[in-house]
Amino acid sequence: MTTPDRVLVIIPTYQERENIEPIVERVLTSVPSADVLVVDDGSPDGTGKAADAMADEDPRVHVLHRTEKAGLGAAYIAGFDWALDAGYGVLVEMDADGSHAPEQLPRLLAALDRADLVLGSRWVPGGAAVNWPRRRELLSRGGSLYSRMALGIPLRDATGGYRAFRREVLEGIDYAAVASEGYCFQVDLARRAIDGGYRVVEVPITFVERVRGESKMSGAIVREALVKVTQWGVAHRSGQVRSAVRRRRAG
Ligand code: GDD
Ligand code: MN
Repeated sequence: MTTPDRVLVIIPTYQERENIEPIVERVLTSVPSADVLVVDDGSPDGTGKAADAMADEDPRVHVLHRTEKAGLGAAYIAGFDWALDAGYGVLVEMDADGSHAPEQLPRLLAALDRADLVLGSRWVPGGAAVNWPRRRELLSRGGSLYSRMALGIPLRDATGGYRAFRREVLEGIDYAAVASEGYCFQVDLARRAIDGGYRVVEVPITFVERVRGESKMSGAIVREALVKVTQWGVAHRSGQVRSAVRRRRAG
């Protein structure tokens, strides 16, 4: 049964042993009515075991174990499947490393009053990124600018990973078909929601670079994103040209 107000915070993890306990605790303190789903890809450092121990202690905590590291996108797809099945009304994406402050989650959830998808945004007024290497900031801003131009989506922060979805959005877009890695996974979800006519809003967040553990972002992930966004952009533009030609012929 679907319960519109039930919130599930999905936290994908790979090698986050030092981060998992503090982040889950902060989520449950910030939004005590929410549940948490940790999606762990068999982290060798025991992240999944630590999550299991928390689940034993608190019925709000759930863990999905997957056998091997298969990327952020695949972890979220598995988490979305689980959450929709379990009947949650709101699904949240959040990193495990503390970059997405759980204390700002009430702000994201409040914006669902006027939106179907809320994006935590570093690049709208009031948003920020703290201790982020200049290189990553340029990549993120550049990625959003490129997505804006190539895809015609009006977003300042299209690659961010702190988001709240009404379940209807995920039921309405074919998320299982989304490209599977970091940046492009997030860009693809956002553009599908916009193209599907859902209300998408950005709210400012302060993103804080991780203190413990390592980023899994790689050159390969960035290159995949650039290639995919370019392909989608070409398809988007040729679609526009086709419909303009149709209009000309009709008129
Ligand atoms: N289960 C699973 N499997 N989790 C993963 C995997 C994987 O293969 N790869 C990464 N994660 C988890 C990490 O453990 C962390 O909780 C979260 O996904 C984000 O990974 P980071 O490695 O910390 O990503 P980042 O900080 O470089 O990238 C962030 O910013 C990007 C650009 O805005 C993320 O928020 C991305 O989603 C975002 O696109
Ligand atoms: Mn991170």
